[in-house]
Amino acid sequence: MTQQQGLFLTLEGIDGAGKSSHIEALEALFKAQGRVVTRTREPGGTPLAETLRTMILTQAMDPLTESLLVFAARRDHIVQVIEPALARGEVVLCDRFTDATFAYQGAGRGFDNAVLSTLEQWVQARDGALLQPALTLWFDLPPETAAERLAGARLPDKFESQPVEFFRRVAEGYAARAAAAPRFVRIDANRSREQVWAQVEAALVQRGLVGGVKP
Ligand code: TYD
Repeated sequence: MTQQQGLFLTLEGIDGAGKSSHIEALEALFKAQGRVVTRTREPGGTPLAETLRTMILTQAMDPLTESLLVFAARRDHIVQVIEPALARGEVVLCDRFTDATFAYQGAGRGFDNAVLSTLEQWVQARDGALLQPALTLWFDLPPETAAERLAGARLPDKFESQPVEFFRRVAEGYAARAAAAPRFVRIDANRSREQVWAQVEAALVQRGLVGGVKP
């Protein structure tokens, strides 16, 4: 049997957009197709990167420091987890990746996109190209609605406690990334959970990443 090709898939969106609630179902969908799945997240996914995540999400820091820590965590995650899993032919489902850096540090905090692009080149260089997801599911939700969903849900972290204007900028950042890269699929997250999942499933079927309707 020939080994299957690795597949790198990411989920993105502002806090409260509901992306995380679909990761489990995605994992089950790919497993039902006989695929081995590595489910992971950023910042994080390795012991070192999880340590960096705690720092990033709990401490105030200037945006360059924050970007360097995010990319340091990413480098460790790529080397230790993502690349090996892809080389084994697995499906890597990652809750956030570099698009979040352009959206949060770039658009949200107003940090220089050119510096972020340079860091992206350094960290994601792969055989003369750039490691990028094959598909990015972008859960798009108005920032006001996301804020309502988050309100009272739990103790907010550093980003979740930002005002709605911050998330308006982050949402614009995602929209700009999506407009520039065909790997993005916009999911209208302002729908019921079932309707959102139906869009996710349809996007995967349409791109030939999972089989169509079962007989
Ligand atoms: P999130 O993915 O929403 O996890 P949880 O559901 O546990 O809250 O939280 C990660 C936070 O980190 C989120 O607010 C976005 C932020 N973040 C960045 O600012 N830059 C990045 O590059 C990444 C990956 C995340």
